[in-house]
Amino acid sequence: MKSIRAVIFDLDGVIVSTDEYHFQAWKQLANSLGIPFGRESNDRIRGVSRMESLEIVLEKSGKRYSLEEKREMAERKNTYYRELLKRVSPSEILPGVIEMIKALKDRGVKIAIGSSSKNARAILRAVGLEDEFDVITDGNHVTRSKPDPEVFTIAAMRLGFSPEECLVVEDAEAGVEAGLAAGMSVLAVGAATGHPRATRLAENLSCVTVDELLLVESVCG
Ligand code: BG6
Ligand code: MG
Repeated sequence: MKSIRAVIFDLDGVIVSTDEYHFQAWKQLANSLGIPFGRESNDRIRGVSRMESLEIVLEKSGKRYSLEEKREMAERKNTYYRELLKRVSPSEILPGVIEMIKALKDRGVKIAIGSSSKNARAILRAVGLEDEFDVITDGNHVTRSKPDPEVFTIAAMRLGFSPEECLVVEDAEAGVEAGLAAGMSVLAVGAATGHPRATRLAENLSCVTVDELLLVESVCG
């Protein structure tokens, strides 16, 4: 049994509350197209790539769109989203994140970002955390979106650890599935707190101590 030597954090909804801005930007696009889009659809979009999210938004549309039209819509949503990101500041870092990063570093545990977002670096820069992580793996590095494990597998490889030595922190169902499929332990937080297969559950990172986080091997067996 190996102990946890690296923690791979999802970004949107785990480090920063940008998941809400994704929702608002998709809502703005859906409104402009006359397509209903509510909170229930938003849960399915969490963790999923931009183009796959668009397909979920378009499910309730009666129309069929060409690839070119879809690319334009995804681009437009990103423009709305980037506009909302202008207001992101360190005050939007979620509870317990700063303390957990410090505690992990004090223990010599490596930390990484494993995000589906192509905006990950810009967000980390905006909240002043860009230089805190040993590795940042994001939507620019992968070809397959969560629940595929690719983003976490690449992050672990770049860190130099085996999957059993890594713990993933996720707020999305697709992300929890991705972490488990990668063979890693998973702490489910926020919207994923009820996930039945997560290794551990916590409302947010302020509800779990670094000891509890690193002790997951005894929970997974
Ligand atoms: C994930 C979000 O982190 O990134 C998804 O949870 C989003 O909602 C995905 O669709 C892709 O983000 P971006 O910034 O590349 O459009
Ligand atoms: Mg997330």
